[in-house]
Amino acid sequence: MKKTIYSLVAIAFLATVAGCSAKDDTEKKIDRLISKMTLHEKVGQMNQLSGGEWLAEAVEKGEVGSILNCTDPAELNRIQRIAVEKSRLGIPLLIARDVIHGFKTIFPIPLGLAATFDPELVEKGARIAAVEASANGIRWTFSPMLDIARDPRWGRIAEGSGEDPYLDAMMGAAMVRGYQGNGDSTSVAACIKHFVGYGAAEGGRDYNTTEITERSLRNIYFPAFKAGVDAGAMTLMTSFNANDGIPSTGNKWLVKDVLRDEWGFGGIVVTDWNSAGEMIAHGFASDLKEATEEALDAGVDMDMMSYGYISFIEELVKEKKISEKQVDNAVRNILRLKFKLGLFDNPYIDEARAGETLYAPEHLEAAKQSAIEGAVLLKNDGVLPLKDVRTLLVTGPLADAPYEQLGTWAFDGDETHTVTPLEALKKDFNVIYEPGTEYSRDKSTALVARARSAAARVDAAVVFVGEEAILSGEAHSLSDLNLQGAQSELIAAVKQSCKKVIVVVMAGRPLTIGRDLENCDAMLYSFHPGTMGGEAIAELLEGKAVPSGKSPVTFLKTAGQAPMYYNHFNTGRPNNGSETLLDDIPLKAGQTSLGCTSYYLDSGYGPLFPFGYGLSYTTFDYSNLDIDKSSYSAKDTVRVSVDLKNTGEYDATEVVQLYVRDLVGSVVRPVKELKGFQRVELKAGETKAVTFALPVADLAFWTAGNDYSVEPGDFQLWVAGDSATGDPVSFSVK
Ligand code: NOJ
Repeated sequence: MKKTIYSLVAIAFLATVAGCSAKDDTEKKIDRLISKMTLHEKVGQMNQLSGGEWLAEAVEKGEVGSILNCTDPAELNRIQRIAVEKSRLGIPLLIARDVIHGFKTIFPIPLGLAATFDPELVEKGARIAAVEASANGIRWTFSPMLDIARDPRWGRIAEGSGEDPYLDAMMGAAMVRGYQGNGDSTSVAACIKHFVGYGAAEGGRDYNTTEITERSLRNIYFPAFKAGVDAGAMTLMTSFNANDGIPSTGNKWLVKDVLRDEWGFGGIVVTDWNSAGEMIAHGFASDLKEATEEALDAGVDMDMMSYGYISFIEELVKEKKISEKQVDNAVRNILRLKFKLGLFDNPYIDEARAGETLYAPEHLEAAKQSAIEGAVLLKNDGVLPLKDVRTLLVTGPLADAPYEQLGTWAFDGDETHTVTPLEALKKDFNVIYEPGTEYSRDKSTALVARARSAAARVDAAVVFVGEEAILSGEAHSLSDLNLQGAQSELIAAVKQSCKKVIVVVMAGRPLTIGRDLENCDAMLYSFHPGTMGGEAIAELLEGKAVPSGKSPVTFLKTAGQAPMYYNHFNTGRPNNGSETLLDDIPLKAGQTSLGCTSYYLDSGYGPLFPFGYGLSYTTFDYSNLDIDKSSYSAKDTVRVSVDLKNTGEYDATEVVQLYVRDLVGSVVRPVKELKGFQRVELKAGETKAVTFALPVADLAFWTAGNDYSVEPGDFQLWVAGDSATGDPVSFSVK
């Protein structure tokens, strides 16, 4: 036995030494390469360009380190051959692409993925995306987007995990692991973006200014980035916004002090598209040369598409405004990634096999499962799953829109592979199809009457509404979040002539669907569900699968409520039930007190649906919430248990959520914070004890003393099916 232990120790030691020397070997190779490079060639490595005709010449001269937006395997091999065989030092190019929710097999948009509360499945999806993308030469994706989004007017809310720092961190880390895999030739470098605060754009207008305090950055906006760094993310992208007057791409505190020094990030930092150049428009740099100096000084290694680095770094070095050492550090980070990805060993694509992995059956299956788990059931007055339904009206602009259901940032997805709900439902029902409106923004009601009369002839109607893909994503902010065009009219008309009306919403954001809820018997919110969305939705409607998705964002009653999120502060005037709504205010003056709390006269205090909300075909009962002690030290772990019973008739999965409130702090603390979740499967009638282990250390926050610590005091803890229900247990930290 002893001998075995000694051998194991020896093996571990040798492995460590071998690992070490392997690492040193790479560093030595990098040193050797850098010593051979001219300053011009070094700067070339720091330059990222979008594919184009003229690219070949620049690559041959060693003026390009990375390219994006070229996906044709033959073309990529051709350009790579120029880099490797014709440029002086033969350094391979790093090929990048926005692979955001799948490469060819498109998964639900990231907001929909977050609704699964299933990091394992999300990791699997990212792995699949990496397998498909890497087979086609892409070894760097600009994903995951980790921007916290508290305002659904912001179109890019679609691209992230929603409003919660903990969920965002779990999903982001899962994606990083999935993309990067075990480092083999299918590994695709992840890029955590956009650092930082981009989702807090004022008024939800994309690219807009943010005013986030250091405390909010550290408590709300940083955690997912820190988790991404800890998960080994190889690259990070700076954001477009200026926070507190400083554009991220020129923010030394952010990139050097926090990211590099505090978190120890050693990967590549890349600008967003021309975000270095945009510092001129921000009014932070007077010209591109100054912008280049600011970005490099901040610690940004690679310039995406501003042409500033390639044009001005050499001059800046000559003028001693920046040092060659700064340049070498950046080049070192870039070359290290190229070595890690194995590009120096084999930079080429096997063109004959490039297509082989695409749309593999297991990829489609995972995409379908993700769409099933990511759909949130918002309402069900007993009409779902569909029973005793033979003739079904399928209507609405998203019922048969193969491109639109893929959602934003699905450049490479091929809509001919999409399974639409119409196609899927036809397999099991006698379907009458009426488009209702031609597309989501179609204001014409010409086709609505046909849908209404068809609705009178069927057992049930499913109305597929929402947003076309182009209505969310970058630069696609909206100030009105109601269904566009004549979609609400269509729902109301169908309801007039049919008893069972189910609305399915495919959208890039939580829309204000309050009035539509009143005109239907059930509503399933699938976000943009991707390639397999149709099959997934059909299975859910038919009861072959049971909804389990939970909303990763707060659903608003009106756009005017934005920003509204569950983990807000209490204020000195919280809701106390005394609020008078507009309709109840006497027309004649005289009533002076309207409650005087923090609410809207016309939409009240709360949202339409809270964060974490989602129904099932069954019901769950939570009981016996308990913790192992009443008082803990900072090093302890709170052991939580609760009994969860499936009280309905369907086997189902519940996303069990753990929330905490720190009652009094040196600075005010959120009314609730998600600190854990689990997907728990239960047979009909079954009860399970669900346990959580919550380290007290996880209660730390950026205190008034400007450090991360857990402050002693009283806490409350909930375990529930959403962020708004349940009774807490109390404990203290000494
Ligand atoms: C701009 C977007 O903000 C960013 O997310 C994306 O990765 C780059 N363009 C590259 O396409």
